[in-house]
Amino acid sequence: MTDKYAVIGNPIAHSKSPLIHTLFAEQTGQDISYEKVEAPLDGFAATVERLRAEGYKGCNVTVPFKFEAFKLATKHSERAELAEAVNTLMMGGKTIEGDNTDGAGLVRDIEHNLGIPLQGKHILLVGAGGAAWGVALPILESGAKLIVVNRTTDKALNLANALNIFLKRKLVVAHELEYGIPDFVPNFAALANKQFDVVINATSSGLSGEMPPLPPGIFAPGALAYDMMYGRDTPFLQFARSQGAAIVADGLGMLVEQAAESFFKWRGVRPDTRPVLEKLRQS
Ligand code: ATR
Repeated sequence: MTDKYAVIGNPIAHSKSPLIHTLFAEQTGQDISYEKVEAPLDGFAATVERLRAEGYKGCNVTVPFKFEAFKLATKHSERAELAEAVNTLMMGGKTIEGDNTDGAGLVRDIEHNLGIPLQGKHILLVGAGGAAWGVALPILESGAKLIVVNRTTDKALNLANALNIFLKRKLVVAHELEYGIPDFVPNFAALANKQFDVVINATSSGLSGEMPPLPPGIFAPGALAYDMMYGRDTPFLQFARSQGAAIVADGLGMLVEQAAESFFKWRGVRPDTRPVLEKLRQS
């Protein structure tokens, strides 16, 4: 019997997830269906309940429901716990397990597809909204040194503090793990004369054709500029090119990799993302 999956969002018409998962399923010989479902803004929980009753095995969750999905899940992965946001639900029996594969997708895109190992790299994470919270822990777990900057200082401080508390708790049980200590800078001006190996734009500024006020000279030699947004040439990417960033990438690879990580959680099989990413780039 075909196992059913779906992506839930509002709006959802634009979603590439059904295409990505269908390609994964064809490639790996998994018998699944995957559709998009638009939940009413006040009807996320009811939609999940309906899908569960209809025998769906799992869902991806996208804007604006990732926080609600976290609350709905009865069990969480560690990375979902820190982000307090869930993009992958696994439905089985009475439990709904919530995971967040965004950060793993970002790290895998950078390390595997773009060929940049993050261990020991100096990373600037720009933004402290949901997107930034979703990726912060996997970035640190890659062994990178992380600095967070945000227009609203308190939010950057909260993220750095939450990471510190989380890691301290974790280090007690897993002291063999060594992470860099996450830090924040109070504002963009404090970045003057600092350079980073990787600068990740996790703000939504590109949506309004804007960019965070990063100072010139922010990119170290050989640096990667990464915009988590995809499908448009954002002012951040244009700035990165004009500033001589060695590699400039949008978030399409992250989209495919977070999907692959969800697929792996559901099916226990890791698809080859390269042909899928190539196909999406062509279209
Ligand atoms: P998301 O889930 O996409 O992260 P969000 O939680 O609303 O959305 O967060 C948006 C992020 O983009 C925030 O970090 C926001 O900065 P503030 O916390 O100061 O609001 C950031 N952002 C949005 N537009 C921006 C702009 N023009 N310049 C700099 N930062 C911007």
